[in-house]
Amino acid sequence: MNVRGLAGLAAAAALAIGAVAGCAKDDTGGSTESGVALVKAGVLTTCTHLPYAPFQSKDASGKVVGFDVALIDLVAAKLGVKQEIVDTPFEGIKSGADLNSGKCDVAAAGMTITDERKKVLDFSEPYFDATQALATQTGKEVKTLEELAGKRLGVQGGTTGEEYVNAQVKQKGLKVEVVSFRDLAALQQALATNQVVAAVNDLPVWNEYIKANPGKVVVAAGFDTGEQYGFAVKKGNADLLKAVNDAIAAARTDGTYDKIYAEWIGAKPAA
Ligand code: ARG
Repeated sequence: MNVRGLAGLAAAAALAIGAVAGCAKDDTGGSTESGVALVKAGVLTTCTHLPYAPFQSKDASGKVVGFDVALIDLVAAKLGVKQEIVDTPFEGIKSGADLNSGKCDVAAAGMTITDERKKVLDFSEPYFDATQALATQTGKEVKTLEELAGKRLGVQGGTTGEEYVNAQVKQKGLKVEVVSFRDLAALQQALATNQVVAAVNDLPVWNEYIKANPGKVVVAAGFDTGEQYGFAVKKGNADLLKAVNDAIAAARTDGTYDKIYAEWIGAKPAA
């Protein structure tokens, strides 16, 4: 057996001992062998809001998979635990409530880093760049929000897309009827069934939807909001934040990030 194999064995043994010890004194919380505190012993608990493919969604077997899931799996592996995912509304994620109440250790939800959210969450280094996009049914394209005067435009509640649209409507005095949906699935369903004539959300989720439902929907316009996604931990949880940042940095260096990107997002846009 080589050195890595031996180290792995030692780590596994330490983990087994840690799990037993953790159970004896407390079966709700715990910490990793490297001393990172966890809300539930033996697992890294992630809060997300489903569905948000390609970042997180259920596969045919009901397992939650995606770009964010794959990256947080790296963090869990680094900590010597498994990731466990909790599906919960976006509002409690972005407000910090879920992290503060100990529902989860980390939030991974295709979540944009904003100044407002930074006040209540500690964000990792950015791990993904995104913009907003306007989707319509094929053949019903509109290029601007102005063209939607008197019509219904769908957004996802609590998101940066909703904020962007509302700010534009206010600033330009647009006569668009903005309708907010509780999650991405409801928004996409509304677009497919003509409850709204257009819908705004992050570009990568439209690209994924179009891949899965070819020919039905198009991205008719883009809004370059220059967003960046970050994972988040409870304010002050520096140990876990470091583990998250270290895992992302390592993945960027060793090619794992590019592999995960290719698997879930596709070819990288030319720089
Ligand atoms: N990037 C957008 C935001 O931060 C949308 C995120 C929605 N994510 C989700 N998993 N439902 O507001």
